[in-house]
Amino acid sequence: MKGRKRAAILISGRGSNMAALIEAARNPAYPVEIVAVISNRPGAPGLARAREAGIAAEAIDHKAFASRSDFEAALEARLEAHVVDLVVLAGFMRLMTAPFVQSWAGRMINIHPALLPAFPGLATHERALEAGVRLHGCTVHYVTPGMDEGPIIAQAAVPVLPGDTALDLAARVLHAEHKLYPIALARVARGEAPVMGERVEIAPGDLLFCE
Ligand code: GRF
Repeated sequence: MKGRKRAAILISGRGSNMAALIEAARNPAYPVEIVAVISNRPGAPGLARAREAGIAAEAIDHKAFASRSDFEAALEARLEAHVVDLVVLAGFMRLMTAPFVQSWAGRMINIHPALLPAFPGLATHERALEAGVRLHGCTVHYVTPGMDEGPIIAQAAVPVLPGDTALDLAARVLHAEHKLYPIALARVARGEAPVMGERVEIAPGDLLFCE
């Protein structure tokens, strides 16, 4: 496909969502090309996984920088070097400063393992079980300075089943994440997830969810 958007995926760990996105982007008709994978942790298993898939992968160790903004300056330089249109956070466990986030407004997305605005932050599966919700899931959203607060692009719901442990639930949600993220990224790349005020506008009849 002509005019594919160039995306960098930022990771901190195993990179299973990254792998799902790389797989989707192998299809030339997919509107996004994954041009780089960058981890803030040099030991992230996802880096090797990206290289095996033939994607340029590099680490920018946040511990080597005196401040968050120094780290972000280094990151920005690499994003510019790769001529990136979209930044895709996939298990990237580092909060970013408001100026950095604002400079990528509408061009940086994240996946969160809960049906936002329920359960922002960490330990979402444990908290879902504790709360006794019957549906749980994942959310792809634009990144804004408030953690897990940006406009929602797409969501996938999964049931919470009797006897589920947090691990069972995490696995069910992760499976949904791998389906949802490539769909959501494609929508963003095609300009089909425009932000109006604080929400993503969806067209009538347009179902931005999957199960
Ligand atoms: C996923 O559950 C994602 O929603 C969360 O961190 C986890 C990353 O997993 N933000 P992986 O590295 O993609 O396997």
